[in-house]
Amino acid sequence: TMKGAIFDLDGVIVDTAKYHYLAWRSLAQRLGFEFTEEDNERLKGVSRMESLQILLEVGGVEADEAERLEMADAKNKEYVDYISRLEPSEILPGARAYLLLLRSKGVKVALGSASKNAEFILNRLGITELFDAIIDGTKVSKAKPDPEVFLAASAALGLEPSECVVFEDAAAGVQAGISAGSKVVGIGSADILAEADRVIGGLYELV
Ligand code: G6P
Ligand code: MG
Repeated sequence: TMKGAIFDLDGVIVDTAKYHYLAWRSLAQRLGFEFTEEDNERLKGVSRMESLQILLEVGGVEADEAERLEMADAKNKEYVDYISRLEPSEILPGARAYLLLLRSKGVKVALGSASKNAEFILNRLGITELFDAIIDGTKVSKAKPDPEVFLAASAALGLEPSECVVFEDAAAGVQAGISAGSKVVGIGSADILAEADRVIGGLYELV
């Protein structure tokens, strides 16, 4: 039975995946190429600098370290513009209710996100206090599919990874959860998340 639940943020709790995509796409446009939603699947769950690396590969663009930092910074500025206007209505259907349900059953709840903007987003949505532990991109260095973020989250809850269920919308995140030794619930489409133990359309299916 599940003693802990570890949630990815973008695309699981809140509908920010679309803002990441818009900001990456506009960077690609400035660099002179199209960045499709299909390309974007590869960025989900992946850290900012690794996402940039993939995007530059897709566009066949060469850039040195200083240029990369500048590009990542420009993308993040545009992204932060979007999330500064986030409303609690952008919490995904069922997410808040499911967190409350788990808490009422005594299940410990953690965040396991690659984002350095995670705390800002949770505060903006007013749901910070629904998490017993928050592990985000400021606390880990290895990007999903590395299991570091989920191992750190289960440890922060005082649980074994095998006692925790990971909720993820990204292929890289599903892989990370499996590597950590947790059960994984994929959120989204079954073909992208084929390796998950179970795939659902959204947390609304669980409340
Ligand atoms: C999440 C998102 C990724 C994003 C990463 C880093 O994992 O799914 O799309 O690149 O966080 O986010 P940040 O807010 O630090 O740029
Ligand atoms: Mg995600």
